[in-house]
Amino acid sequence: MSTKHKLIKLSSPWYGQEEKEAALRVLDSQVTCMGMETKLFEEELKQFLGRDDTNVICVHSGTAALQLALQASNVMVGDEVIVPTLTFVSTFQAVRAVGAMPIPCDVNIKTGFIDINDIERRITKNTKCILPVLYAGIDDNIDEVYQLAKYHNLKVVEDAAHSFGNKEIIKRNGPLCFSFDPIKTLSCTDGGMIVCSDDTIAEKLKDMRLLGVIGDTEKRYNNQRSWDFDVEEQGWRLHMNNLCAAIGRAQLSKFNRIKELRCKYANIYLKELSNIQEIRLFPVNTTTSVPHIFPIGLYSKNSRDELRQYLLDNNIESGIQYKPNHLLTYFNRGYGLINAEFLYYTIISLPLHPMLTEDDVYYIVSKIKEYFKKQ
Ligand SMILES: Cc1ncc(COP(=O)(O)O)c(C=O)c1O
Repeated sequence: MSTKHKLIKLSSPWYGQEEKEAALRVLDSQVTCMGMETKLFEEELKQFLGRDDTNVICVHSGTAALQLALQASNVMVGDEVIVPTLTFVSTFQAVRAVGAMPIPCDVNIKTGFIDINDIERRITKNTKCILPVLYAGIDDNIDEVYQLAKYHNLKVVEDAAHSFGNKEIIKRNGPLCFSFDPIKTLSCTDGGMIVCSDDTIAEKLKDMRLLGVIGDTEKRYNNQRSWDFDVEEQGWRLHMNNLCAAIGRAQLSKFNRIKELRCKYANIYLKELSNIQEIRLFPVNTTTSVPHIFPIGLYSKNSRDELRQYLLDNNIESGIQYKPNHLLTYFNRGYGLINAEFLYYTIISLPLHPMLTEDDVYYIVSKIKEYFKKQ
């Protein structure tokens, strides 16, 4: 009798002794609000990114990073923001959070990255900003986005939630918005970060994350709070607290191991699945980036659903990233976006996280091959 393989999860954080010790250190200190740990995490992140001339602002989530970056870029009620429809709903909700209207845009069918021609079609007199999403860490054509934005005098805010660990993108001035949620390449349990070179925007972001209280960040870093203060604009309670920051610091200290494992597993998929003609691979780059998700494309919805079921029958979870936002009632603008819809019906995300073993990845590959052999 054959024994079933243990359940292989689609995604998972990788918390261990380092994170437990970090959390206990903060709990023992009785200072769990935003403070010294947040300051140190920001400094260590800046060092890790290797850019002295930029700013790192840690916040409550990737969604918060997007919302605040848009607000600091003066995106507001009445403005339109062009967003690729193939993204997590956070990107769209962040635009609504500042009162602007997300305008769904199609994506390139081979890369999942925003389609440059479709951006041009969506530009109106109300367009204020383009919000490209680095889907699966892919940023092909990003230069064209910036050129187009410059030509039309638009802002760019990047959703880099899938891209922590990619040092190439940090060469850009931002705002770049990252997520440190439980399943991202680096996790703080929940958290996010904005990287931006513009000091004026950075100062705004620091106040906005702490309810708009001017200069509160410096006080919090030193475990103080403001009693006599002023507020000049809308702010939110979206800072990162010491507990999350300490866990993030522990994760950063082992990031090389995280990177090694994620890249190794993605490389196995890339090599082993490249000869299966029923599968389309995305141009995931394991030299410059640390993959967060590993989507593959098939050619029909039926085979996609069947393969997903076959994997599940063999105790392998998979995902669909993502349901295009223009198909959601709240964001539907009354037009179709055919590439994103085709991707939605034909993609599968395969398990990718550091809790996997190499054997797990080869087992997943073997089940995919077995499925196609049976067809
Ligand atoms: C593309 C994208 N943007 C934004 C977010 C939001 O990040 P968070 O969950 O930290 O709010 C996510 C999270 O999954 C994401 O995948």
